[in-house]
Amino acid sequence: MTSPLHGKHILLAMTGGIAGYKIAELARLLVKAGATVQVMMTEAAEQFITAVTMQALSGRPVYTSQWDSRPANNMAHINLSREADVMLVAPASADAIAALAQGRADDLISLTALARRIDACPLLVVPAMNREMWAHPATQRNVAQILADGATVIGPASGDQACGEVGDGRMLEAQEIFDDVEAFLAPKTLRGKKLLITAGPTFEPIDPVRGITNHSSGKMGFAIARAAAEAGAEVTVVAGPVHLPTPRGVKRINVQSAQQMFDAVLPLAAQQDVFIASAAVADWRPAQSHEHKMKKAEGGVTAPTIAMAENPDILAAVARLPQPPYCVGFAAESEKLAEYAEAKRRRKGIPLIVANLGPATFGRDDNALLLIDEQGQRELPRSDKLSLARELIQDLSKRL
Ligand code: C5P
Repeated sequence: MTSPLHGKHILLAMTGGIAGYKIAELARLLVKAGATVQVMMTEAAEQFITAVTMQALSGRPVYTSQWDSRPANNMAHINLSREADVMLVAPASADAIAALAQGRADDLISLTALARRIDACPLLVVPAMNREMWAHPATQRNVAQILADGATVIGPASGDQACGEVGDGRMLEAQEIFDDVEAFLAPKTLRGKKLLITAGPTFEPIDPVRGITNHSSGKMGFAIARAAAEAGAEVTVVAGPVHLPTPRGVKRINVQSAQQMFDAVLPLAAQQDVFIASAAVADWRPAQSHEHKMKKAEGGVTAPTIAMAENPDILAAVARLPQPPYCVGFAAESEKLAEYAEAKRRRKGIPLIVANLGPATFGRDDNALLLIDEQGQRELPRSDKLSLARELIQDLSKRL
């Protein structure tokens, strides 16, 4: 997996909060993605989770004091901030945010945040606190101040709190923080661009309990949506029935049938820079959908004949707009991949088609892609779908 975190150095600064236990998992995820993680902890953070745990997970001794005599120059706050690509304060307590807002320097973390080079080492802050503390005007004033000073605030989430109350202020889950940090570090090759993506299958009802659908997990389309959002684009996904979480920062419109997908896509398409049709749209639908369940005839064996009607071709319709976005189609074939896909590209009148072997990818987490345009072909060898999506987005950003 090619993560934007690979080779990056993260200064993970923990302040006091019960959410500290989630940071153990976050450290693991960051290390697994190929980042190096240097942990620093305040005295309060050590009340919740030990430095031993964090050292074991990060593989580096943890710093807990500005008076730590290990650095030869005795300047941990300078050394640690100079080698970091990003300083991530998580959990960030109300007190830590107040210290950052005021530019205090009375513990290792606030001192390091103040001493870092603002341009070279951006500050990411992940709040974690009781909802009343979060909602307090003093905290809101402090958050507004650190934002104005250039920090990025990740979260907080809303929901059940450790104190038993329910509301805003709880820290995001480790995976969500990880996704945001990864997105933050990704090259912003699509900043300012708008992308519309269809994903998943469509479902064409026969009656209230039956329908016709296609094989498609939506995983490729959702991976593309995530990669595009990471690259800084404004992303909308129109999704058929799939059970996938919406990538962070992506707008999602859920639909069922091809007609509904068409109706959702067409009004948005003209304002987009790119349209990527990764959905497996059913070519036909039952000409009429029965209001009630069709019953088997009593004792009879005659199967019904279902008359079919053709669905609108969403991609072709977008490609025919007077000023179409850059259109990317998908072709799932079971043989003669390049030949059939190129024929499809021409038939639909689109500049780029992404071909894959359907049976070798349906429902799987990996895939192999063949990009075909007017000039020729480019192979993206078998890999996990997110890595392929990132390569596709990099390729796409060069075409725009
Ligand atoms: O026409 P065919 O299904 O073979 O082409 C596949 C490509 O066209 C995919 O990009 C798919 O999302 C898109 N498509 C569409 N609307 C349809 C059928 C296919 O957008 N009704």
